Amino acid sequence: MPKILISDSMSNVAQKIFEKNNISVDVKTGLSEEEIVKIIPEYDGMVVRSATKVTKNIILAAKNLKVIGRAGAGVDNIDVVAAKEKNMIVMNTPGGNANATAEHAFALIMSVLRKTPYANETTHKGQWEKKNIKGTEFSKKTLGIVGFGNVGVRLSQLVKGFDVKILVNSKSLASRKKDFPHVNDVSFDDLISNSDIISFHCKAAADGKPLLTKEHYKKMKTTTYIINAARGNIVDEKDLNDALNENLIAGAALDVFSKEPAKENILFNNPKAILTPHIAASTTEASIVVAEMVANQMTDFLLNGVKKNTV
Ligand code: MLT
Repeated sequence: MPKILISDSMSNVAQKIFEKNNISVDVKTGLSEEEIVKIIPEYDGMVVRSATKVTKNIILAAKNLKVIGRAGAGVDNIDVVAAKEKNMIVMNTPGGNANATAEHAFALIMSVLRKTPYANETTHKGQWEKKNIKGTEFSKKTLGIVGFGNVGVRLSQLVKGFDVKILVNSKSLASRKKDFPHVNDVSFDDLISNSDIISFHCKAAADGKPLLTKEHYKKMKTTTYIINAARGNIVDEKDLNDALNENLIAGAALDVFSKEPAKENILFNNPKAILTPHIAASTTEASIVVAEMVANQMTDFLLNGVKKNTV
């Protein structure tokens, strides 16, 4: 009977699916790397979200591990190269939390345009800042979407009723363009120069270098807002902080950070930045879907050799 370790908290749907298929499961969350290294030899599969870092040390110690499943999209917490060297399969659940992430990006857009967090905070304090809070409307603006995978596509669909012009920068869009008549395929430079809101939904660069740095802000309108619900290292945080302080752009809303959990960050207390703690995918619905997807895929691999959503 195959044996699975679930090392991050997730919907118990995953455990139920494994058990229904006679796969034995241990749920042990919050373990250190050292603790995982000690127990990993007894497992055939391991399921993580983003908290567990599946390091080379863990992979080298894993004598029986055949598959690592990521309940989510990003696999930057897994040493995929080391796993491949040991012929382990790494699978994720693309699309499983795309709607949740796109909805949060949309919520960040509306929050930053209407200054909702500031309005909420000051109203709770009895300050009644009505005269000092003037928002910007989203309707009829230009939304730039960088990266057009499941999340970028979903965001472009969600905003249809707002009559916005949508610019997209994505390497893979040209070949799929006929499916997306509502968006315009543009270069990165065109997108950053012409968008009122720029929302990132791409992967981070393989070398970890940010896509958005100092020189880019000079090309933007001073009324531009930056949204990042993808990965923290896509936007250089110091350059963004400088751009906000120098009024090169109007504001930013970030759900992701170069270092997570973000206990300190240069953007903390910048009044032009709205920050949330990597919660874009954290909805009741998405957490069930990703747990279901990863458990079904891993079961099918362990019992039938079927490889789905491998990275
Ligand atoms: C993902 O990669 O799926 C999202 O960033 C959410 C998560 O970290 O689980």
